[in-house]
Amino acid sequence: MHDIGYAPSLARSGFHPLDGARWLQAQGADERMVCLVAHHTGALFEAERRGLADQLSVFAREESATSDALWYADLTSGPTGCATTFEARVEEILTRYAPGSVVHESISAARLTLAGAVRRTRERLTAYPR
Ligand SMILES: [Fe+2]
Repeated sequence: MHDIGYAPSLARSGFHPLDGARWLQAQGADERMVCLVAHHTGALFEAERRGLADQLSVFAREESATSDALWYADLTSGPTGCATTFEARVEEILTRYAPGSVVHESISAARLTLAGAVRRTRERLTAYPR
């Protein structure tokens, strides 16, 4: 769900977290989910570089175990949905997007923030095993 903004028919700004959140909001989706989609996986880092931070900030940015878990799931699965490590996922993105590109620079800048969400989620999973 969090990447629904990649659907070509939904693209308006070309920034998938924003396009996805706007579309979900228009469909009447739960506001918390809309906001989680808008800000998933460090979206603000890229929004700032695209000049879209003001538009993204319309949506509340949640910092919680839930948002961490969403980022964790995103950052520990590859483009095809297969499980991967955070480190491999970040390297895959940095390889797929050329240095100097908005995505490459955004992920580079966000890396520590992203790693924090992954670390906190791992700690929670360890502290509260099934
Ligand atoms: Fe995404």
